[in-house]
Amino acid sequence: MELIKTVEEMAALGAKLRAANTKVGIVPTMGYLHEGHLALAKEAVANNDVVVMSIFVNPIQFGPTEDLDQYPRDLAGDMAKAESVGVDYVFAPQPADMYPAGYATSVDMKIVTESLCGASRPGHFQGVCAVIIKLFNLVQPTNAYFGQKDGQQLAVIRRLAADLNMPVKINGVPIVREADGLAKSSRNVYLDADCRSQAVVLNQSLQVAKRMYDAGERDAGLIKAAVRAHIETAPLAEVEYVELVDALTMQPVLRPESQVMLALAVRFKTTRLIDNILLGEDD
Ligand code: PAJ
Repeated sequence: MELIKTVEEMAALGAKLRAANTKVGIVPTMGYLHEGHLALAKEAVANNDVVVMSIFVNPIQFGPTEDLDQYPRDLAGDMAKAESVGVDYVFAPQPADMYPAGYATSVDMKIVTESLCGASRPGHFQGVCAVIIKLFNLVQPTNAYFGQKDGQQLAVIRRLAADLNMPVKINGVPIVREADGLAKSSRNVYLDADCRSQAVVLNQSLQVAKRMYDAGERDAGLIKAAVRAHIETAPLAEVEYVELVDALTMQPVLRPESQVMLALAVRFKTTRLIDNILLGEDD
């Protein structure tokens, strides 16, 4: 495995691979890798000739009061993990190389970015879209891999790629969970013991929603209320949102007909966790 540290080197490699008609998979990450990231990498390795994993804590997707400076980093550990699953290149650029003086572009997307995390994190998806376009332009991938863990992000990237005719296939990968059901996340390291044990209510509450949906309940208000009530059995949980949205547009629905996503964001002390479940049709 090789480490690529500069935008210039990555652009040259991407162009070379494209000229040779190589099937390239990209796995964009912010590092501090866990089994969730590695599931994406394994999927990429199984379906491409060459796999590039980017490790870049993208400053422009963080709000001014968010955890950019505290975001956990471990490039050496990440390299070992990436290599163990067969990644060929890790691209880990410096922020000043990705965003040199004079950088001025962000990407404005309506509808899909406006609900859920887009509502509580203004500018977040603009920053995500910009970095993803930059990474795609540098790497020129055939396939890109994103986790259902960040369900709205996956919907946003699918919309972006379709709207801008990007010549890359967007592949979604199911959520990888801890043994007790908590979705794996780089931010789980922030949880103290009390928060960690109470955080199991998130996945449990999604299962409450699934049981109701499978039993035929279609009143979004009732499903959301039951989910919220279950989360609130954990004294340290502060609900930011519980929403039932259309799986493609991320717009709230009152009575699910096509596939929907039950999505939640909950704070445990200073740590904000997100989780979701798809309900209906293709789940
Ligand atoms: P990051 O949070 O590091 O996540 C990188 C990718 O791993 C995302 O596609 C995310 O959905 C996926 N992932 C994280 N935890 C997962 C889990 N438990 N199961 C399955 N997939 C999981 O998301 C980002 O970085 C950034 O916004 C990025 C796309 C890299 C742009 O900066």
